[in-house]
Amino acid sequence: SAPIIRSLSELRTLVTGWKSSGETVGVVPTMGALHQGHLSLVQAAKEGCDRVIITIFINPKQFNNPEDYENYPRTENDDARKLAPFGVDAVYVPDGPTMYPEGFATNVSVGGLTDLLCGAHRPGHFDGVATVVSKLFLQSQANRAYFGEKDFQQLQVVTRLARDLDIPIEVVGCPTIREEDGLAMSSRNLLLSDRARTWAPELNAAMEEMADELVMGGNIADLHAKAVARIERAGFTEVEYLDLRACDTLEELTAPTRPARLLAAAWLAGVRLIDNIAVG
Ligand code: PAJ
Repeated sequence: SAPIIRSLSELRTLVTGWKSSGETVGVVPTMGALHQGHLSLVQAAKEGCDRVIITIFINPKQFNNPEDYENYPRTENDDARKLAPFGVDAVYVPDGPTMYPEGFATNVSVGGLTDLLCGAHRPGHFDGVATVVSKLFLQSQANRAYFGEKDFQQLQVVTRLARDLDIPIEVVGCPTIREEDGLAMSSRNLLLSDRARTWAPELNAAMEEMADELVMGGNIADLHAKAVARIERAGFTEVEYLDLRACDTLEELTAPTRPARLLAAAWLAGVRLIDNIAVG
């Protein structure tokens, strides 16, 4: 199975060797607790690159709540087992001091894009993501990096930062993988009780219904109210946002007059779930 690499110098030695023989390198950044969504990114990287590195690091800087960080699932042995069939070339699992050594003082902050949606509700979250992803891009020196549309705003943020900082990496977005009942796969789904798990698919179902009716010309305020009511009836305690946004700039829209996405975050039994779908 794939070598687990814990030090940056080992990673650099491997990558330098690959690149000097003209091989392309893909990186798939994750926080572990791997599921089919993550594995679809690994598959895409395998198809697009000669060498594939998957990174597993539960990044403390992007959790805006220490309890959420403590509770985040840690499943390293299962993760290694799930990766075995893919033949990845390296599993990079740095520890805290490798990523944030004593005296670490730099913050990467992507303006504008990070003030809205999840950014408005999770102060500091996207700075934490942008900082760790910048480091992973530079550490891995990969040619391509694979991210899921599941975290649509994150995908826009990392695309922007690579461009703004001239990091020579192509950010590749991949479709959201779902359970059969429509629930977007997420490591956080593991935190749901059996009962809450049966309610969770209503988030996506309400969004699909709203998207269909928006395409048919429905009024956004009415459809928003109807969808929120449906989600809350299912047992969700709070809908943080449920917005129609432009795909490229994430600015708010009142109708899908250009490429648009419906994005939502909602709380179910103490777990924050997010989802997004194309409209039209
Ligand atoms: P994590 O939540 O582990 O997700 C790692 C990657 O898997 C992200 O690009 C995410 O969008 C993708 N992913 C998660 N669920 C998916 C699904 N159902 N279908 C398709 N892709 C899915 O996102 C992070 O980690 C972190 O913020 C990270 C980028 C690693 C920085 O710490």
